[in-house]
Amino acid sequence: MKFIWDAKYSVGIKSIDHQHQKFFEICNEIDFLIHRGQTDQNSLNKIIRELFAYAEDHMTFEEKYFKEFNYPDAQTHIAAHDFFRQKVKQLHDATEIADFARDWLSGHILAVDQKFSQFFIVHDLK
Ligand SMILES: [Fe+2]
Ligand SMILES: [Fe+2]
Repeated sequence: MKFIWDAKYSVGIKSIDHQHQKFFEICNEIDFLIHRGQTDQNSLNKIIRELFAYAEDHMTFEEKYFKEFNYPDAQTHIAAHDFFRQKVKQLHDATEIADFARDWLSGHILAVDQKFSQFFIVHDLK
């Protein structure tokens, strides 16, 4: 299912919103490739590796600032990222991976990332 960005997903920090949008775009691209139906396994594997690498970069980015700013909720937040890291490795089918990544990210932004919004803004993260 195609993900459509909405203002409620904004955490008010440009760099992080941009990363979330790119993360969703990769999920949409996997869906697009699958539904086009003429996709070979190589292109799918390539974009799935891209999704994993991008997700990892993004989570590491947030975690770097938790440490730098001494974010009080860091442990719980990192545990939520670790759940994604573990779970996504257990999936093999491209549709399942894209569905899981999109659903996890949209839920995670609203329930978990939104909690650092004010804290990061106060620390002047752009
Ligand atoms: Fe995030
Ligand atoms: Fe996060």
